Amino acid sequence: MSKHIHTAQQYWDVRSELFANYYKKPSFFDKLFRQAVYTRTAVALKTIQEYDRPTVLDIGSGPGVNSVTWLKNSDASFLLGIDFAASMIEYAEKYAVAEGVAHRCKFIEGDFMKHDLDHQTFDVSVAAGVFDYIEDARSFIKKMAAVTNKAFVASWPSNGIRMVLRRYRYTCSVYHYSEKTIRELHASCNIKSLDIIPASGGWVTVARKK
Ligand SMILES: C[S@@+](CC[C@H](N)C(=O)[O-])C[C@H]1O[C@@H](n2cnc3c(N)ncnc32)[C@H](O)[C@@H]1O
Repeated sequence: MSKHIHTAQQYWDVRSELFANYYKKPSFFDKLFRQAVYTRTAVALKTIQEYDRPTVLDIGSGPGVNSVTWLKNSDASFLLGIDFAASMIEYAEKYAVAEGVAHRCKFIEGDFMKHDLDHQTFDVSVAAGVFDYIEDARSFIKKMAAVTNKAFVASWPSNGIRMVLRRYRYTCSVYHYSEKTIRELHASCNIKSLDIIPASGGWVTVARKK
């Protein structure tokens, strides 16, 4: 059983370097057991590349390594990253400068559900590795759909041995999904299509509005 002594914000606020290194210096263990992390990055990149100079919203942008990868490998005109862990934002800002893409992005500290985006919308929005920590996934996906013009990408962990181990190790709450739940969650999002792509220990979805 998970101890649940931290919020997801507290949990992630001390793990920016650790998470960045899953991409920057992947260990043998990471390559073997964290395939889903790399699959969701690749699916999101492919989706961003489908559009012409898209604007991108990276929800729960973490250390910003994905944000930078997407900017460097697409013609995205602008990316906004939002994360409620201050150390993640700090890391992402420095990393974007170091990688020469700071002029095409901005990172803001805030809770996606509470932050007022002031009617700003984005061609593509992504929540990679985020629904794992969301208690009210229905409201979250609805807000995601509302701020997206073209496509939104999300990852969803399934139940199973990996989830049992995560719940044992993690000190914050972790949530899991089924394909049926994922379809139900998207039902009220006003979308034209939904791709559900299996990724180890879960799925990555691409929902298209037009
Ligand atoms: C597992 S990390 C993934 C980081 C990044 N998306 C990636 O794939 O490399 C999850 C991130 O989501 C953030 N997060 C979770 N719920 C959030 C919310 N409601 N608003 C903003 N950030 C959130 C956490 O702070 C954490 O940095």
